[in-house]
Amino acid sequence: MRRNGAKSWVDFWNGDTAIYACDRHRELHYEGVARDLSAHVPSPDSLVLDYGCGEALFAARLARECSRLLLYDGAPLVREKLRARFGNEPRIEILEDGTLSGVADASLDLVVANSLIQYLGPSEFSRLLDLWRAKLKTGGRLLLADIPTPRSNPLNDAAALLRFGWRGGFLGAASASLARLYLSDYRRLRNELGFFRYGAEELEGLLLRRGYGVSRLSRNVGHNQGRLCFIAQAGDLSCLDSLSEGGAGFRFRRKLLVD
Ligand SMILES: C[S@@+](CC[C@H](N)C(=O)[O-])C[C@H]1O[C@@H](n2cnc3c(N)ncnc32)[C@H](O)[C@@H]1O
Repeated sequence: MRRNGAKSWVDFWNGDTAIYACDRHRELHYEGVARDLSAHVPSPDSLVLDYGCGEALFAARLARECSRLLLYDGAPLVREKLRARFGNEPRIEILEDGTLSGVADASLDLVVANSLIQYLGPSEFSRLLDLWRAKLKTGGRLLLADIPTPRSNPLNDAAALLRFGWRGGFLGAASASLARLYLSDYRRLRNELGFFRYGAEELEGLLLRRGYGVSRLSRNVGHNQGRLCFIAQAGDLSCLDSLSEGGAGFRFRRKLLVD
């Protein structure tokens, strides 16, 4: 991986990160993410926001499951790629503004933040939780996925990548990419800026304090099943009941707002 001199995580993702071992890795990753996210779209008329969506190569597939898919990524170069790829997709809109000024309050059915919150400091994460809650309809859902836990470390992530590479036919490229990753800005930034990990209880407490009901899911989005995944819901908690009854592998855990 090339060093791009990044000073923030958005800066890092705005550069040529080469975080994917090869094109096949990138494609399998985004294809799997789109497939997993599709299962969380509540209904075909849903308005969905994918925040920190990255290149979202298979967003058109996800968009087929909703009435409209809004994509936002903090990195301007990523948004440029999104515009080039999806500019003509009628159901996809690429947002330019992370404050979501163009999105009406109480309009979204689902907000997705997949593999994002490890890059957010505590105050930005809290601010975004409040912003997403304001934009969600009553009963709308926030899917927080691919969250590293305090037990996650670069070795677990490397092992998960190698298993994915083995299954996906890019094991050689995956092995080589680990060496690049070790020498990269990614490692430096993890030390300098932080790479935020959460225990399940800690994250549940945080979500409850920001006014969400929360349910931990037993299956994560994407290939790394060592990471956490939650569905949170603002206001009316009835959708969590229906999720638990759906038999879709949810480990249901509902808590009331505590403070
Ligand atoms: C690991 S990638 C995940 C991309 C995609 N969600 C996925 O699952 O493949 C993290 C993405 O979050 C974006 N990001 C990081 N910090 C952000 C922030 N503060 N606001 C918005 N996007 C951010 C980065 O630009 C990057 O594209």
